[in-house]
This record gives sequence, structure tokens and C-alpha cells, in this order.
Amino acid sequence: MNIFTFKDEEQFVQTGANLISALLHTNPRAKLGLATGSTPIGLYNKLIEMNRQGLVSFAQTTTYNLDEYVGLPENHPESYRAFMNEKLFNHVDINIENTHVPNGNAADPEEECRNYDNMLEQFGPVDLQLLGLGHNGHIGFNEPGESLNGGTHVVELQEKTRNANARFFPSLDDVPTHAITMGVATILKARQILLLVRGEDKAEAVKRALKGPITTDCPASLLQCHPNVVVLLDQGAGSLL
Ligand code: GLP
Repeated sequence: MNIFTFKDEEQFVQTGANLISALLHTNPRAKLGLATGSTPIGLYNKLIEMNRQGLVSFAQTTTYNLDEYVGLPENHPESYRAFMNEKLFNHVDINIENTHVPNGNAADPEEECRNYDNMLEQFGPVDLQLLGLGHNGHIGFNEPGESLNGGTHVVELQEKTRNANARFFPSLDDVPTHAITMGVATILKARQILLLVRGEDKAEAVKRALKGPITTDCPASLLQCHPNVVVLLDQGAGSLL
């Protein structure tokens, strides 16, 4: 694991953007695994800026998002499809048909999960998977527990996660109770993983993920099994390492 801690927000964001643009320079058809949440927004802004300057192109890339809420209309501002369109896809030279987010409104969500995995199996593996970290150590929406699920699956969100995400909704009651998420095995199949974490409130989760025992109680700790993980932290997130 290569762990970098940054004092400066600009450097944090630029380092992540440089990794992605270097990959796309080497392989313009590289497949990117993308994430939502507030953490990658700065990185997406930087990639938009670099795309405008002609420093990186997404014209030939394909993207696969980690997760999506179940039951939010696709055009709901907090759906992860809407988030990705607004925060990245609408502003870069990507072919929107090459962007994939699980369909949280599929008539049969279990079938949607199988289809998502089949697509990843057929067209993957993902070359670089971007990840954020939940306060409870979740990655995607893989919540801590006695066991974890390998493939894409429907998950019931824990109260801690719903509370953390309530800031984006009018009230806690409006936060969906379920989501579709790639499983940990799917995530670990990526050739490279780029984990971004910001904020002192995540310091404990970072410590457990990177230095604690590998356990289903902290899904991100499974990243310790992956041979190619880059971790970018701000000072707060890295403060307990
Ligand atoms: C959500 C997403 C995760 C993300 C996490 C952290 O739960 N499903 O993929 O990593 O939020 O979000 P934030 O970056 O806003 O703290």
C-alpha cells in the first residue's frame, strides 16, 4: 500500500487527477471504477479542468460506478446517476453510453445485480477503482457485519450510513433504506485501487482500514489484501496513523 498524506488540498486533488490522467495517456480505453460522496468532488473538478485544457480525454474510456440507491428516480438530484452526470460526465468528452451506474429502479434488483456483475465479468476488470471511505469502514455500500458479499448485491443501509448521508436529503426519512453496491470481491478485482479520504472525522476509520486487522467489521481493511492500492489522505484523515 502506498499511503500519501497531504497538507494542501490542491496537491491532494492534483495527485489523484494525475494518476487517472497518466493511466488514460497510457491506455485511452482504460476502464475506470468511479465513486460518489463528497470526497471525490474536488478530483472530478480537477479532471474537468484538465479535460478542458486538453490534458486528459475520456473519449474512449468506459466507467462503472460502485453503487446506487434503491428506489430514487434516476433524475432525483441525489441519485448517484444524477450525481455523476452533474459532477463529471456532463462536463467532459465522455460518451454517456459508456458510463454505467447500477439501476436502482430495476423491476428486479437482484437481476440488476447479476447483470451488473456479468457486464463487469465480460468487459472488466476495471483498471483503476476510485474509492471513498465510510465512517464505519464501508467501501461502496459494503457495510460492516459478520459476513461480506463478494458480488454486486442489494444491501440494507446501516443507520450510521443513513445518518451520514442525511445531509444531502431534506430529512433522514428521505434517505433510502437500501442500495445496490458492487461487492468486495468485485472491488478487489480492479487492477489498481485509489482510496481518497478527507477529514479528521474519518481518522479512526482510516486507522482501522489501513493498520487494523483484516476483518468484515471493517470492509475497507480487505484492501490490505490488494497488491496495488494508492491511498491519498489529508492531514485530518491521516492524523491517527
Ligand atoms: C457513501 C458512498 C461511498 C462513499 C461514502 C463516503 O456512503 N456509498 O462510496 O465513500 O459515502 O462519502 P463522503 O465522501 O461524502 O464522506
